[in-house]
Amino acid sequence: MSSPITCIEDLRRLAQKRVPRMFYDYADSGSWTETTYRANESDFQPIKLRQRVAVNMEGRSLRTTMVGQDVAMPVAIAPTGLTGMQHADGEILAARAAHRFGVPFTLSTMSICSIEDIAAHTQAPFWFQVYMMRDRDFVERLIDRAKAVNCSALMLTLDLQILGQRHKDIKNGLSAPPKPTLANLVNLATKPRWCLGMLGTPRRTFGNIVGHAKGVGDMSSLASWTAEQFDPALSWADVEWVKKRWGGKLILKGIMDAEDARLAVDSGADALVVSNHGGRQLDGAPSSIHALPAIVEAVGGAMEVWMDGGIRSGQDVIKALALGARGTLIGRPFLYGLGAMGEAGVTKCLELIARELDITMAFCGRTDINTVGRDILVPGSFPLA
Ligand code: FNR
Repeated sequence: MSSPITCIEDLRRLAQKRVPRMFYDYADSGSWTETTYRANESDFQPIKLRQRVAVNMEGRSLRTTMVGQDVAMPVAIAPTGLTGMQHADGEILAARAAHRFGVPFTLSTMSICSIEDIAAHTQAPFWFQVYMMRDRDFVERLIDRAKAVNCSALMLTLDLQILGQRHKDIKNGLSAPPKPTLANLVNLATKPRWCLGMLGTPRRTFGNIVGHAKGVGDMSSLASWTAEQFDPALSWADVEWVKKRWGGKLILKGIMDAEDARLAVDSGADALVVSNHGGRQLDGAPSSIHALPAIVEAVGGAMEVWMDGGIRSGQDVIKALALGARGTLIGRPFLYGLGAMGEAGVTKCLELIARELDITMAFCGRTDINTVGRDILVPGSFPLA
């Protein structure tokens, strides 16, 4: 019998066994030297928690809100591209798991399952993440499609005007369509469970794009379209344009600088996410947890500040909250769960994080997640603004 899964690392190892290398590496890597990618995780470690005793720990609650929406804990599923390649119908399964658990699911523009697929196969409202493409008509239609299925928030990602170079993807021939090299085919032959899943679903291409973007009717036209569509000229005027077109809750993702955070406040968005795209864009940028305090200070309560990057446990979540984040997003942890065990794996990931968060909160002498502040940390052990 295999040993029980007790932490996110267990899910990661299982996913590594079950997901074809090309797609596993796509998830489990960062740009260039991967310095920022690694720092996102390791910079949580020096932050120390104050253990309290003889404090009543009964009746604990992790419930809170993110952009006014009730959540079972301050954790949402981050938008990730190609999620339906970690596991067949990956986005549908992750959205279902998130809904059952009571946390938001964010669908990426670059997902395999489309906006309409998620709406048809799940009951709950979900969030949609949009990239600014040169083809503004396409972006407009994406926003309208998200509106049509009642997405309850829109997340605009600002840190992908150009693509950070990722060595592993190039080496593995990750493209649309993927390169059928001998190494890839041999590796695929060792993943029968994954292959069977893929054969059982019609959803195997970028569902939000193919058949919707001008001139993209199949996989081969997709590669050149994506290569040229991310808009390097994205500006704050575009943020205003998206806000107007959308009209609902707007979250800005990818802010790493206090000056940009002040501009985000001026834009009138509802929340910002301190994020370096999980270390996949500017290698050499600080870790997200390191950048967080200065941004919280710059925003001064004018909008919700969330963070993502490197969260691998409930302890990491509570440290982010203590440093001023009102919410967090998780990317790779849920992808590992999905690759390891499909929907059950995403549920397992959320259960693990919730349990760690709950127990850690109790040890820190708190029973309500909304009361967590900097005073649960050992002075001198955390980054300052
Ligand atoms: C991402 N991320 C991302 N972000 C986004 O806004 N749109 C996207 O399509 C993607 N795609 C994507 C794919 C993969 C495989 C990963 C790992 C990440 C970034 C993501 O939303 C989030 O910022 C990071 O994943 C957070 O870091 P952790 O939790 O993965 O360490």
